[in-house]
Amino acid sequence: MSLEKRVLSKYIPAHLAIILDGNGRWAKKHNLLRTLGHKKGAENLKNMALICNEIGVKVLSVYAFSTENWNRPASEVEYLMKLPREFEENYKGKFKENDIKVIFSGRRDRFSEENIDLLYRIEEKTKDRKGLILNVCFDYGSHTEIIEAVKQISVKYKNDDIKLDDIDTSLMEEHLYTKGLPPLDLLIRTSGELRISNYLLWQLAYSELYFTSKLWPEFNRKELLKALDNFQKRNRRYGGIKE
Ligand code: FPP
Repeated sequence: MSLEKRVLSKYIPAHLAIILDGNGRWAKKHNLLRTLGHKKGAENLKNMALICNEIGVKVLSVYAFSTENWNRPASEVEYLMKLPREFEENYKGKFKENDIKVIFSGRRDRFSEENIDLLYRIEEKTKDRKGLILNVCFDYGSHTEIIEAVKQISVKYKNDDIKLDDIDTSLMEEHLYTKGLPPLDLLIRTSGELRISNYLLWQLAYSELYFTSKLWPEFNRKELLKALDNFQKRNRRYGGIKE
């Protein structure tokens, strides 16, 4: 049986996350500016969203800009901040055609007015779509996400809206950016780095992890199928014992 047929005949992750890493190294390898690596990376994100939609992934979460990425050179940050607009201009037709919904996870208070409006507008325009949910994590960091959740819960406790014993896993999850999304099945990181880098720390509790040396712009359909094939062979026990 072909790799594709085998993978498609088994469980496809409901929620897949990818740390998109290696755009800069890809550009260097091809003697191009780093920004062109990000451009290629954004194009690959569009391709990956279409593939995930086609094969039945429900949610694709991607780490597009971290709370720490503001420390990069100003010119690179400036370019990365233009990506949401470029992404919408270039791919909105394809996304509409394929009924893909787009949401953003992360802080919204450090972007330009224009970008803030854009993120809300994209979410509003795509909110009733029934296909893949592309969750773009932009100015995202897990520590911030968890701290924000704790603050919101603390206010509710202080106002007597909840009791101490109401604070449990499900209450925490209602206050995370991923509220309402299915549990995270699989996290993929490209480019050979073996780190989580402050990504989805809460959500990763029982997820499977897959690391590949392929740089993000090189991570194509075949590489995704290889990752899913590997995932499908795992024995997920969630702390229990093997059946
Ligand atoms: C990591 O590569 C990649 C990023 C920091 C940016 C990724 C963003 C996109 C691919 C597009 C985002 C799209 C939208 C819609 C916002 P790197 O620069 O860390 O690569 P390196 O480690 O090789 O230098």
